[in-house]
Amino acid sequence: MMSRTYYIETFGCQMNKADSEAIGGLLEEEGFESTELPEAADFILLNTCAVRDHAEQKAYSYLGRYLQMKRNSPRKLIAFAGCVAQKEAANLVQRFPELDLVVGPRNFTALPEYIHRLRTDSGRIVATAGEEDLVDATTPRSRGADSTGQGWVTIMVGCDRFCSYCIVPYTREREKCRKPADVEQEVRELVEKGIKEITLLGQSVTGYGRKAGFESDFVDLIERLDCISGNFRMRFTSPYPGDIDQRLIGCFDELEHLAPHLHLPVQSGSNEILKRMNRRYTREDYLDIVEKIRQLDTDVAITTDVIVGFPGESEEDYQQTRELFEKIKYDKAYIFKYSPREGTPAAEYEDNLSQEVIDRRHAALLELYEQGAEQRNQRHVGKTYEVLIEGESPKSSPDNRQLVGRTGHNNVVVLPYLGADLEGEFVNVRINKAASYTLFGEPVEEETNFIAARAVS
Ligand code: 5AD
Ligand code: SF4
Repeated sequence: MMSRTYYIETFGCQMNKADSEAIGGLLEEEGFESTELPEAADFILLNTCAVRDHAEQKAYSYLGRYLQMKRNSPRKLIAFAGCVAQKEAANLVQRFPELDLVVGPRNFTALPEYIHRLRTDSGRIVATAGEEDLVDATTPRSRGADSTGQGWVTIMVGCDRFCSYCIVPYTREREKCRKPADVEQEVRELVEKGIKEITLLGQSVTGYGRKAGFESDFVDLIERLDCISGNFRMRFTSPYPGDIDQRLIGCFDELEHLAPHLHLPVQSGSNEILKRMNRRYTREDYLDIVEKIRQLDTDVAITTDVIVGFPGESEEDYQQTRELFEKIKYDKAYIFKYSPREGTPAAEYEDNLSQEVIDRRHAALLELYEQGAEQRNQRHVGKTYEVLIEGESPKSSPDNRQLVGRTGHNNVVVLPYLGADLEGEFVNVRINKAASYTLFGEPVEEETNFIAARAVS
């Protein structure tokens, strides 16, 4: 029997990437094989992102292309999945009559059954009710052979925060945590397979286990995972600034496996805007966390997400964000232009800014961030770090082959090519040059260990 093939196109956040990995695992259990070519696939799935309009429009444009392929080979099945599917199910069915399957982020576990039904009955399936078992839905069952040494482990799904601009609480529904023992088992399995970097995923991970009666909070969980032996590092994304306390901050000095990196989404530097965003912390709370992190023995990289052009953001509010950037000098910042999302409270606000103002503020903040990052990155020059090799650099050329990887701080490092077999392995690299986005270095024999990776060497 010829095996069937699948192709997954993933948009958006790491959570979507982890979900796609889980879907791939489910399909492989059903005898599907992955293919790199959508033209050749019997089953194509788009795993979509609804956080900003740009990503949503991109998903529609890919869908148009795949539906065109289906016209030439009608037995191909096309599924539209993820956050846009959840939000737009009714419209999708109307707008794209050839689309076979619409499936929300909480209905993935039943995919094999849906595919079976589509093969045997005619018709189409819309599944957005979310009644499936979430633990199964979020447990990766297999990983691709091209793994780069990184594993994503979903510790919780959904979000209860309702930041006023954000669609996620509507598409991924209420928060639900996986059991600590299940998380631990999955991390152990990944480490045993040789995975070197584990990222714990959730929309608001520091809220893990907050609900009454749950056996473990977030710090309990990472302490438990830190007891797993093996040569690996772990990160988490994203925490919520309002949850961060001294106990969590102390973990960066105390836990052996915790990477020295905190992604701390600020969203705005203005208290007025934070309030309108329904973010329950102030600029002062946030700066206090940063100060405590910077007082640790460990050099912890701080990265962020920020939105410019939120409705009502005055020039003064924007200056507050700039000032915060000047103070903190982020190691990395993801700067987003505000994108109204229908159904969120902020979409109803009437004091929207012109696109011109949003574009100008975005470009200027990006420039400020880049200057700060370049300055801050100089502290790495002369230090040796453990770099997890991801593969050949996209800028590699036959006369100048290069590898690319990441430090524990999550900095991208470019180094001379040493061989393809190093993908997914740690290499010790001494940094000799630093730019705003990239560090450059040479492999060295000298030992680094986690202490050196934390830059106290
Ligand atoms: N517009 C722009 N950026 C947004 N984000 C979430 N919702 C929106 C929106 N409506 C950003 C936030 C979040 C990141 C994942 O996406 O900064 O942290
Ligand atoms: Fe969206 Fe806020 Fe939840 Fe993050 S914490 S997913 S920004 S609602």
